[in-house]
Amino acid sequence: MKALILAGGAGTRLRPITHTSAKQLVPVANKPILFYGIEAMIAAGITQIGVIVGDTRVEVMEALGDGRQWGADFTFIAQDAPLGLAHCVLIAADFLGDDDFVMYLGDNLLEQDLGAFVRAFEQARTTDEPPTAQILLKRVPDPHRFGIAELDTAGNVVRLVEKPADPPSDLALVGVYLFDSTILEAVRAIAPSPRGELEITDAIQWLVDQGRRVRQEELTGWWIDTGKLTPLLEANRLLLERIETRLDGSVDDASIIDGRVVVEDGAVIKHSTLRGPLVIGTGTVIEHSFIGPFSAIGNGCEVRNSEVEHSVIMDGSRIIDIQRLEDSLIGKEAVVSRSQVRPRALRLMVGDHCQIDVE
Ligand code: G1P
Repeated sequence: MKALILAGGAGTRLRPITHTSAKQLVPVANKPILFYGIEAMIAAGITQIGVIVGDTRVEVMEALGDGRQWGADFTFIAQDAPLGLAHCVLIAADFLGDDDFVMYLGDNLLEQDLGAFVRAFEQARTTDEPPTAQILLKRVPDPHRFGIAELDTAGNVVRLVEKPADPPSDLALVGVYLFDSTILEAVRAIAPSPRGELEITDAIQWLVDQGRRVRQEELTGWWIDTGKLTPLLEANRLLLERIETRLDGSVDDASIIDGRVVVEDGAVIKHSTLRGPLVIGTGTVIEHSFIGPFSAIGNGCEVRNSEVEHSVIMDGSRIIDIQRLEDSLIGKEAVVSRSQVRPRALRLMVGDHCQIDVE
């Protein structure tokens, strides 16, 4: 079993952060989103991993390395234009060979163990009616935003449609798929959709139309497609729910730690209250501040005389004299500061290197 992880998308819905950074490398709970997918694959016992990269390839390749430190073997495959998920399979044909593989969209996060999903496919492949593909489904309130599956009363997949105006069900296709090599025939057989992309949904529909068995499973745990600010903050919240207290940095006697809090090595907390769950990165200084639940403050940041809650602050950023910052995503090495007293909460999405002075 191989894996193909898609890390090429442009991330237009996370601008301005994605003008300068890859969306798959935006951190949640202080770890790049993409790393969760890679770790899930490795935990599932898959080490031959193809990584589709796009415009942000330099940054993604640098962040991942060659795989040795993960105990895995990465093959980077460049996609020159965003021509669709099925196009990613097409250009990965040499890497995939005849092997079965899991395809994972690099901006998706799942609570559930990937290994169980992989084993279920492998098990089903030994039966009299082996499936050629396996999809994961999750009921969603807004089905027009996703690929949607229609099942018959016996639970067989009969139709798949991409972002339908009139959805036949509320069962969204989660961005984790299992395939055997028949999918290569499918991606060669289909034509681009009206949005000009080779859709994986159409490729799976082609399998169904050929009379191939597509196994489906409904996801029980949470699933987040992190492509926008609100789901990204939600993913950050859900992942911080899992952390356990670890205070490796220095916390002075005038500070209060409440709830589950991680303070990484080299971080310095002075005269502040930290109310978890939250995480403070290495080398970060928090002084005369309140950091509230569901905050992830990156490495080498500074927060002084400020209140921060339910926010992601990326590496090297400074928050100075801000009455209250909430529900925000602050890029790398940005500065948010204030020159006059202004008792108001700020909700911001700030790009890398920006400087915002609230007057
Ligand atoms: C893609 C797929 C869609 C799937 C979704 C899951 O959509 O095309 O079928 O439901 O991922 O995240 P996109 O993120 O490209 O809009």
